[in-house]
Amino acid sequence: MKKFYITTPIYYPSGNPHIGHCYTTVACDAIARYKRWQGYDVMFSTGTDEHGMKLEESARKAGKTPKEYVDEIAGRFIKLWGFMNISYDRFIRTTDEEHKKAVQRIFIKLHEKGLIYKGEYAGKYCVPDESFWTQSQLVDGKCPECGREVIDAKEEAYFMKMQPFAERIEKLLTETDFLQPAARVNEMVNNFIKPGLEDLCVSRTTFKWGIPVPFDPEHVVYVWIDALSNYITLLGYENDRHDDMGYWGGDGGYVMQLTAKDIVRFHSIIWPAILMALELPFPKRLYSHGWINLDGKKMSKSLGNVVDPFILGERYGVDAIRYQILSDMPFNGDFDFNNRLMLTRINTDLANDLGNLVSRTVAMVIKYFDGTLPVFERDDSEKLPYDDSYDNELINMSTALRKKVDGLIEVPQLAQALSEIFAVIGRANKYIDETTPWILAKDDANKPRLATVLYNLLETIRICSSLLAAFMPTTMPRVWEQIGVGEADTTYEKAGTWNTEYNYVVKKGDIIFPRFDIDKELSE
Ligand code: ME8
Repeated sequence: MKKFYITTPIYYPSGNPHIGHCYTTVACDAIARYKRWQGYDVMFSTGTDEHGMKLEESARKAGKTPKEYVDEIAGRFIKLWGFMNISYDRFIRTTDEEHKKAVQRIFIKLHEKGLIYKGEYAGKYCVPDESFWTQSQLVDGKCPECGREVIDAKEEAYFMKMQPFAERIEKLLTETDFLQPAARVNEMVNNFIKPGLEDLCVSRTTFKWGIPVPFDPEHVVYVWIDALSNYITLLGYENDRHDDMGYWGGDGGYVMQLTAKDIVRFHSIIWPAILMALELPFPKRLYSHGWINLDGKKMSKSLGNVVDPFILGERYGVDAIRYQILSDMPFNGDFDFNNRLMLTRINTDLANDLGNLVSRTVAMVIKYFDGTLPVFERDDSEKLPYDDSYDNELINMSTALRKKVDGLIEVPQLAQALSEIFAVIGRANKYIDETTPWILAKDDANKPRLATVLYNLLETIRICSSLLAAFMPTTMPRVWEQIGVGEADTTYEKAGTWNTEYNYVVKKGDIIFPRFDIDKELSE
């Protein structure tokens, strides 16, 4: 089996997780589930990034030790991922002993190779972002990432050389399709590589809550070597807990990483440099998606403008929320979250288009055939007494769908993948209007045609729901129960083909996606 490794960023446990964190994690989950379904041996990782000055400060404010503080909030992330049905294989915390040891070994390795040296850092420092900037990088004298004030700061620190890696990183960015969307490539090359990559500050003496530099314990390893290394220490790099470095691109394996654009620089420049220094291969894909905003501003723990996924999931259903955030995030942009947008998306796509297609089809099979669809032999030599061009269009669209979705998952363009699936669902609804089963049902002579129409609808539902299962893993099995298909009928192989003979026995079930009264919901 080919290996596929997918990673979320490791989140700061500095405040409660919100719907923005859910976006990346749900996107990774959908891809991980899809890849498992395709037959890959998948490793899916997530976790928490627990060191640094910001966390030390948050803990102090909360009257706790840093460890007590991060334990509590890491627990909330774990709870949220359980609630959101995230099928991660490993959860890494950077306070895990084996991670800390591995980071120290990595630090020593880079030092021994002459890639880490001691120097002095003087620069503009953004405290909330824990980032040093050069004067030229500031925007209106403020932090280019968050727009907040920066301070002058100076300290003795270790640095990692970046110049030896610049050329290969530029090639990685410009000559491969590693970084998606491609629009981010110019931004990285023009803003960071062309002006000359600056050496990376990799240690701090101003706070203690971090991994000590083994040969100079006044220093702690500064955030990025600690945080980025999680992707390999979790597989067992430089530690004995695991032995799974085979997922890191060996044997034609495939590594895909997702982050939002706020940390694309770290993942597309600094991380490849560290990997090169360690003589490890690059990941195959980095997708840096946009932000979920609230009133035009990035939803973030530090701004406090957050939407709580527990509240939404409990009220509207976890699958509905998973679907909404994935379909409303444009491939190359941000989206502004609001309740009306969310409810409209749920009502239109899930309750109306998909929900109605399933309930109408099942109801008609029950009404006209007592729930068991007969298989009629069709004599192809006969001139059909009806127009079956609609059938061909529906069948062609359904059978071409899996290949389209496969391609979009690779990029990954998840909103587009969902939109392709819903285009087929829309086509099936139109097919009902075109074929008018309720008129066919008036004459017994039309029974074979009526059965064919319903059969075509059930096959379309089978294919679409199989493809949707990675995105909405709880609800699609409920669809399968109603249309009477089992695991063997919803495999990856079967989602790419039209069954020509199948004994459909349907069963009436509860409404799959309820419709919400938007005005009532908004007023509440
Ligand atoms: O940056 N919209 O942690 P973090 C979309 N620890 N995605 C969002 C989002 C929003 N409004 N808010 C957060 C860190 N995210 C570091 C990462 S990785 C080696 C270290 C998601 O808690 C998105 O994936 O600030 C973003 O990149 C990440 O959370 C930032 O999480």
